[in-house]
Amino acid sequence: MKTSQEYIKLEEKYGAHNYHPLPVVLSKGEGVFVWDVEGNKYYDFLSAYSAVNQGHCHPVIVNELKLQSSKLTLTSRAFHNDTLGEYEEYITKYFRYDKVLPMNTGVEGGETANKLARKWGYLKKGIPNNKARIIFAKGNFWGRTLAAISSSDDPSSYEGFGPYMPGYDLIPYDDLESLERELKDPNVAAFMVEPIQGEAGVIVPSDGYLSGVRKLCTKYNVLFIADEVQTGIARTGKLLATDYEEARPDILILGKALSGGVFPVSAVLADDEIMMCIKPGEHGSTYGGNPLANKVAIAALEVVKNENLAENSKKLGEILRKELRAIDSDMISIVRGKGLLNAIVIKPKNNKDAWDVCLKLRDNGLLAKPTHGDIIRFAPPLTITEDQLMECVEIIKKTILSF
Ligand SMILES: Cc1ncc(COP(=O)(O)O)c(C=O)c1O
Repeated sequence: MKTSQEYIKLEEKYGAHNYHPLPVVLSKGEGVFVWDVEGNKYYDFLSAYSAVNQGHCHPVIVNELKLQSSKLTLTSRAFHNDTLGEYEEYITKYFRYDKVLPMNTGVEGGETANKLARKWGYLKKGIPNNKARIIFAKGNFWGRTLAAISSSDDPSSYEGFGPYMPGYDLIPYDDLESLERELKDPNVAAFMVEPIQGEAGVIVPSDGYLSGVRKLCTKYNVLFIADEVQTGIARTGKLLATDYEEARPDILILGKALSGGVFPVSAVLADDEIMMCIKPGEHGSTYGGNPLANKVAIAALEVVKNENLAENSKKLGEILRKELRAIDSDMISIVRGKGLLNAIVIKPKNNKDAWDVCLKLRDNGLLAKPTHGDIIRFAPPLTITEDQLMECVEIIKKTILSF
C-alpha cells in the first residue's frame, strides 16, 4: 500500500496544480469522520464545502444509489425516465416552487439561473435584445466558468482569463442603497446573491438585508436569484438561509448537499411565470435529471427532514460560536456564522498563520482549510452530535492555545 506522501507525489506529477490541498490523503468516510490512508481518524470540519451535510456515505443515500445504479443510470433527456417526474414533484413540493430544472454542478445551476433571468427579461420585462444586466455582490463566488469569473472581483478567479461576459455589474454586499440605485435601470433583469457569502469567508449580512433585497426586487420588477448552493439544505440552521426572513427568491439555486456528497446534482427552482420562458432545445445537460441523481436527491432531502438536520444545525451552531468566542486567545480575532456554517479569522502569532493552525488541527484530529489566507471555515456535517461537537471544541481550543 502507498503512503500519504506517495499519493501526494502522484497527484503532483500527473494532476493539474489548480488546488493547494492540506497534506492529508483520505480513503474512507463515515458520518462526521474521515480516515487517511494510514488509518488516522479525523473530524471533517469542511464537509466538502457543505456537500456532505448528511454526513459521509449516509446509508440511506448510498442504498438508494446502489439500488438505482443496478437498474438504470442514464437515458439522457432525449427520452423520459420513470424517476424524473417523481423527483420533480418531490423537490418542488419540498421547496414550494412550481417547477425545477435539474442540472449537475453548482456553477451550472448559476448559469441556468442567469440564462433564465435574461430570457425572462426579454420576454416578460421587455428589456431590449442583448441589453439585459445582472447585478452581483462583491465577494460573490459561484464557480469557475467564464460567466462565473466574469462576475467575480477576486483576481485569482478572473485574472488572465479574459475577455469577460458582458452585462454583469458588481455592487457592495449587504448594501441596499447601492442595490436600489442599480435596480432603477429598466434593463436590469436580476440580482444574484448568496444569503451568506461562503467562499468569501462566511460573510453574514445584516438582519433585514435579504428581506430588503426581496422588497426592492419586487418594487423594480427585477428577479431575486438566491445562490443557496452552499447555504441551502439546512446548512445555516433553516432549510434555506433565505427562510430566516421574508425573502422568498424568484429563482433558487441548489447544489452540493442535494446529493449528500455522492456525486454532482444541482437544481434551479422557479415558478411557471419564469421557468416557462425556456422552451425545448434552449437549455439542458446530458446528465441533468438522470435517474441516479433523481433517486439520490430524493433520499438526500428525506434524510435532511427525517433527521431534523436544520434544527440540529441551528442549535449546535449557536453552541459552537459561543464556545469559540470563549477561547481566550488573541489569535482568534473574529468568530462568525449561522447554523453550522462558521468561520474564525486568525491573527498570525509568532509567524504562525491560519495554514499552520490547520496543520496542527489535522495533527489533533480535525480537518479544516484556510481561505483568503486568514479565515478558517468550520462547517461539520449536520449530523454531528453535541458530544462530538464539544470534543471538536476541545481540539480547536487545545490547538489555538498551543501557539
Ligand atoms: C455559493 C456557491 N455557488 C456555486 C458554487 C459552485 O458549485 P460547484 O463547485 O458545484 O460548481 C459554489 C461552490 O463552492 C458555491 O459556494
